[in-house]
Amino acid sequence: MKLKIKGQKILGGEVEISGAKNSALPVMAASLLTEELYLKNIPFVQDIFSMKKLIEGLGGHIEINKNNELFINTASIASLEAPYDYVKQMRASILVLGPLIAKYGEVRVAYPGGCKIGARPVDLHLENLKKMGAEIKVEHGTIVAKASRLSAANISFEKVSVTGTENIMMAAVLAKGTTVIENAAKEPEVVDLANLLKKMGAKIKGDGSDTIEIIGVDTLHPVEYGIIPDRIEAGTYLIIGGLISSGLTIKNIRIDHIKNIISKLEEAGICLKIKKDFIKVKKIKKLNPIDIETQPFPGFPTDMQAQFMVMLTQAEGRSIVRDTIFPGRFHHVDELLRLGANIKKIGNGEVSIVGKTELSGAEVIATDLRASASLVIAGLIASGETIINDIFHLERGYERFVEKLQNIGSKIDYLE
Ligand code: UD1
Repeated sequence: MKLKIKGQKILGGEVEISGAKNSALPVMAASLLTEELYLKNIPFVQDIFSMKKLIEGLGGHIEINKNNELFINTASIASLEAPYDYVKQMRASILVLGPLIAKYGEVRVAYPGGCKIGARPVDLHLENLKKMGAEIKVEHGTIVAKASRLSAANISFEKVSVTGTENIMMAAVLAKGTTVIENAAKEPEVVDLANLLKKMGAKIKGDGSDTIEIIGVDTLHPVEYGIIPDRIEAGTYLIIGGLISSGLTIKNIRIDHIKNIISKLEEAGICLKIKKDFIKVKKIKKLNPIDIETQPFPGFPTDMQAQFMVMLTQAEGRSIVRDTIFPGRFHHVDELLRLGANIKKIGNGEVSIVGKTELSGAEVIATDLRASASLVIAGLIASGETIINDIFHLERGYERFVEKLQNIGSKIDYLE
């Protein structure tokens, strides 16, 4: 599937932000810790359907309704294995590791393979589960983990890991004793998962800080839970509004989750009208160059790096973008060069962007989820026509992206 964009059309109107994909995935995995969950504000994107298939493959039942709700029943789990087919489609499949070993004492998950955005090992997930008493082996490409009942441990992550923290948190809620996680990820999605687990009866303190304390309980109960809005989707539309709209209102935003994005947009000169749960933004004449370095939350998110890079091609002067989390996450650079951008790799995980460059439409290829979003933004501001190949990456994480863009006036469409 391809996308065709006719660029330089001035946009305007309103966009409603969907639920956070990176919250929905761990929250769905947490259904394996109990027997039923009723989830709201779930974005219907490909990754969610992959997680649905994975849970169904384990023996769970999932009902979906039109209001972005999921009803998950995991009372009759029959298999404890996440096969390679699922894991290769979506690395976040690793999130079933913690809940399955905690509840069933056994799990087999295919070892995640390489990834377009760079090395993404799971060594810290495994090492820390071992500290909780799990026996872990890798057999024929599959992680095999066993434990009669996990015991609490003092865990310190050598490197901040979002899904790593989530896996350990889900393992610890049913473990015996008090687990302390040091150097924990503080991302809003980690806090969202902790809030769900607390509602289910888990005893968790300190989520959102460096140290999380979890007192294990014997069982967790079914609940209803609505997840947070997607901060990366919000950031993506803020850039679109700031680059090519006569006025865009972006609704359903948690301002406290995007302060890092807001401050960088303002530094670049973009004028935002920030209200309680929505932001108004419009195109400005002159953008300032800025430097960006990705960091774990509350730092600037790596998932916004590619979209900001496109914005910085329009700033007058030299900007630097450094990705400290995934230094190999620069596949979009070669594609942006095809549109005429002036971007140079200047170090490991570091590029310079010199603007302002008039981008001209071209045929490009999407290489990963956020790179695809950056190419769409580039196509929206470029002259002429841009064709984006392999657009399935986009559908993994942005709900109704094409439709939402059409609703605010974009000339964008699918090409078979
Ligand atoms: C999550 C997000 C992803 C985001 C990333 C960083 C989900 C489903 N995905 O991915 O969108 O880009 O956080 O914010 O929430 N690392 C190790 N060993 C490990 C685990 C991680 O060395 O066992 C390293 C990674 O290579 C990377 C860093 O730690 O350099 C952070 O990765 P991590 O936070 O684990 O990313 P994910 O949880 O996979």
